[in-house]
Amino acid sequence: MMGVIGGTGLNRMMGLTDIEEVAVQTPYDSKPVSISCGHFAGNRLAFLPRHGKGHVVPPHRINYRANMQALHQLGCQAVIAVNAVGGIDPVLVPGAIAIPEQIIDYTWGREHTFFDGQNGQVEHIDFTAPYDASLRQLLIASAQREARLQLLARGVYACTQGPRLESMAEVQRLQRDGCDMVGMTGMPEAALARELGLPYACIALSVNLAAGLGEEVITMAAITAVLNSGMQRVLHILARVIIEWGQQREQNQAVEAGTAQ
Ligand code: HPA
Repeated sequence: MMGVIGGTGLNRMMGLTDIEEVAVQTPYDSKPVSISCGHFAGNRLAFLPRHGKGHVVPPHRINYRANMQALHQLGCQAVIAVNAVGGIDPVLVPGAIAIPEQIIDYTWGREHTFFDGQNGQVEHIDFTAPYDASLRQLLIASAQREARLQLLARGVYACTQGPRLESMAEVQRLQRDGCDMVGMTGMPEAALARELGLPYACIALSVNLAAGLGEEVITMAAITAVLNSGMQRVLHILARVIIEWGQQREQNQAVEAGTAQ
């Protein structure tokens, strides 16, 4: 089963049918994580709105450990994260989509690891390539089939602390660091997925030019307008990815079972 983590603008997964709401208790929160399980594009899918139902949890207060652990406990074999970002690369005008290849973590004070020494386990995971290569290829191939879509099939995601947007000088620093987009929720999610051994990739929707790169002040109204149409495209792209991913898994299972045609 694929897990999808929805960000700002994707609190409900349109097209998800036969929905069962599951409350998953984890060791990382007194409250269970609520996940919508159902069918999407012919496959089982678990949908988790990152900011909670009704978009009430700000980026720095999200319980990333509970969320990732819950998807893992439910039996997800891979996770696709949907993130709204500010565009830094010129391709990433509002409405454009990126499938980032790298990430830089500028956050602080977040519970960011399952290996915090509490259970006597010291682990240093490899994070050279933060995103799963084959999931990224599925996302890129699907996005390339969208008509009139500005697509950045690479790029570095800068994760800032939020909830405020950046100063102009901060965005200029991100540019000097080689960042192509900026959001507030990419970390520690990506690293926690790796700690759990879950293949993880991100589809990022640009909803504004990063601070100081556009003429206008960034407003929530302008962002919301882009989110509404942009997330429809994200869902189209996801539908093709989920179909492909399901077929690939079936083929792999057939090969393992020695029944491949
Ligand atoms: N900065 C950080 N996070 C964001 C932005 C931004 O400009 N837009 C959407 N999420």
